[in-house]
Parts: sequence; structure tokens; C-alpha cells
Amino acid sequence: MINIIVAMDENRVIGKRGRIPWHISDDIKRFKRLTMGHPVIMGRKTFESICSNLGKPLPGRTNVVVTRSHKYDAKPGCVIFHSLEKALLFVEHQQAFVIGGGEIYKQCLDRADRLYVTHVRDSFNGDTYFPKVDSQRWKLIEHEEHPKKHPKVKIPYAFATYARVF
Ligand SMILES: NC(=O)c1ccc[n+]([C@@H]2O[C@H](COP(=O)([O-])OP(=O)(O)OC[C@H]3O[C@@H](n4cnc5c(N)ncnc54)[C@H](OP(=O)(O)O)[C@@H]3O)[C@@H](O)[C@H]2O)c1
Repeated sequence: MINIIVAMDENRVIGKRGRIPWHISDDIKRFKRLTMGHPVIMGRKTFESICSNLGKPLPGRTNVVVTRSHKYDAKPGCVIFHSLEKALLFVEHQQAFVIGGGEIYKQCLDRADRLYVTHVRDSFNGDTYFPKVDSQRWKLIEHEEHPKKHPKVKIPYAFATYARVF
């Protein structure tokens, strides 16, 4: 099963200059809870962004990295594929999470079974976007709004899960 997990703002912005433009600690916790123990598929740029933030690949998850470069060396805890097809074959029959970025989401959206979206209820400057989602093809199955009334919520957001309509 292919799951996409993403946080996007009101204009579908997901990144700016190689980074995520906001910090929502509950979103990071949810990301960890959902993806832990499962393979996570990502583009080379997202992988580099994670490694520069964390100093290492995501722990407790096989980091499946796609790059067209044949010079790219795998770090411990990672596997490298030179095509998305091969990466998706590698995770076949597993609960896999596609974790970005924009290029990879675009290529995976039509193949995903579920979307785990954090809707950031604000707008940010960005250079990377999530593709447009056809609302006819996806059914909202879970929704949890986190408005700005709680002192801990600095940026309002909602957690939403969508299932593909067949
Ligand atoms: N808000 C969120 O939830 C979220 C999540 C993840 C990432 N992000 C943000 O998204 C941005 C990065 O996204 P991005 O679109 O620039 O890059 P990306 O999707 O992370 O990575 C793109 C790279 O993946 C490789 N690639 C793409 N398609 C491929 C294919 N079919 N076969 C083999 N390799 C392929 C290429 O690597 P090579 O150039 O090495 O060939 C390409 O340059 C960052 O700002 C990051 O912070 C946001």
C-alpha cells in the first residue's frame, strides 16, 4: 500500500530553498508515529534536507532514496534506486510512505492509496508545491482541526486522511 504523507499550506506550498517553511511540532510527532517501522520513499533533495537537519537518515525506517545519479553512495539505513519504479517495486506488499518532495509527490499521486495531509492554515513563501488534488478521486475519512485558540498552537493546522475512490 502506498501512502503519501505531506504538510502543505493554503496554496499547496511544501518547501522553500530545500526546507519546510514552518515548524509544527505536533506535525513532526504525527509524521514519526505514522511512518515509524515502515519504508519511507523520498527524492534525493528531500533526503539531503533530512540529513542536514538531523545529521543522519530517518531512524527506525528504511530510507528509500531515488536519484538519477549513479555516483550517489548509500548511507547506513538507506537504499538507493535510480528509478521510482524500482523503488516502488522494492516496497511492494509493505505499508510504504512517500515523504516527498515535490517531484516525487507529483509522480506518486496517481499511484497512492492514501493521503495523510497536514493542512497548514496559513500561507508561506515557497518554491516547491504539492500537485493539485482532484477532490472527486479522494474521500476524506479522518479530519482533526487544530485552531489557534490553544496557547500551544502558534500556526493553526488540520490533520486529514483521504482514501482513493475506486
Ligand atoms: N512539507 C512537506 O511535507 C515536505 C516533505 C518533503 C519535502 N519537502 C520539501 O520539498 C522540497 C524538495 O522537493 P523537490 O521537488 O525539490 O525535490 P525531491 O522531490 O525531494 O527530489 C528530487 C530529486 O529526486 C530525484 N528523482 C526525482 N524523480 C526521479 C525518478 N523518477 N527517478 C530517479 N530519481 C528521481 C532526482 O535526484 P537527482 O537530482 O539526484 O537525480 C531529483 O533531483 C524541499 O524544500 C523539502 O523541504 C516538504
